[in-house]
Amino acid sequence: MLIRTRRNRQSKAVRALNRETYLMPEQLVYPLFLMDGKGIKSEVPSLPGNYRWSLDLLLPEIESCLELGLKSFILFPAVEAKYKDKTGTHGYASDNYYLKVASEIKKRFPEACLISDVALDPYNIDGHDGVVRNGKIVNDETLDILAKMAVAQAEAGFDILGPSDMMDGRIRKIREALDDSDFKDVGIMAYTAKYASAFYGPFRDALDSAPVEGKDIPKDKKTYQMDPANKKEALREAMLDYNEGADFMMVKPALNYLDVIHLMEENFDIPIAAYHVSGECAMLIAACRNGWLDFDKAMPETLLSIHRAGAQIILTYFAKKYAEMWRERQGDFG
Ligand code: PBG
Repeated sequence: MLIRTRRNRQSKAVRALNRETYLMPEQLVYPLFLMDGKGIKSEVPSLPGNYRWSLDLLLPEIESCLELGLKSFILFPAVEAKYKDKTGTHGYASDNYYLKVASEIKKRFPEACLISDVALDPYNIDGHDGVVRNGKIVNDETLDILAKMAVAQAEAGFDILGPSDMMDGRIRKIREALDDSDFKDVGIMAYTAKYASAFYGPFRDALDSAPVEGKDIPKDKKTYQMDPANKKEALREAMLDYNEGADFMMVKPALNYLDVIHLMEENFDIPIAAYHVSGECAMLIAACRNGWLDFDKAMPETLLSIHRAGAQIILTYFAKKYAEMWRERQGDFG
């Protein structure tokens, strides 16, 4: 045998030389659920270790993340029922606490990168990402609302906006609205290939944002989110978002869609992000709680796999845990 691949695995130091992929805490984005009020840190039952935070308790949490080198956060609001209506007007209302919280965080930690959520579902009584009329999600009427939300979020100080709605034409609409309002430096991380997945459950529990049951309300999001059977269609979505001015393109979920992440990474020259969604994290937590898997090993392996597939950026509920582990082990996961 002239060639022995095991030679490059013989010691920790040699394995480190042979390692192809590293994932740094600053490549992660930490999703945070917000609630209006004070003194709130309420655990999401289906996503243990994750909380709905009020601003006062969230600030020290963000500070501790920044100290760990975790710099980016994506914020999602839990919205009280009284603020929900057919067209999600509270999404851009001046008294929307979500916008105020973002401004406060930016004031306190200007170095943090804040990513928003642009979609109607937290504000919509029907629990859909777009306006529902006669049993259908109306695309173009929704675009006008998304554009208003986007400008309000840029005014609040978000660095990057995250349209998660999957309406057609929204990246261009949002880009134009931002430029017209002179927010030329505010970026867009498009949810480009967002699938109609069964893995969003804990997230919808956290925000109480699942599609509402009722006559003339579609019971799922399949007319706008993608069919899990499709891959070529992801390229079509990506071509559109790229040409409409997206700065980052996301695949969501992550683990069941590693092929899609890889495909996007090979075909586009802007950073590809993957959303390691709530249900994917919940599965791992559950197995570890049962003693079936070792969290300290399975979690970093999972994130590394998503990164290796081609995601430069990973949005994950494990971001802080990973950053803590990174510090403890000084980046040594070999
Ligand atoms: C909705 C939105 C969802 C998630 C992020 N934004 C859920 C959905 O589409 O119903 C899911 C994220 C997660 O599960 O962690 N605009």
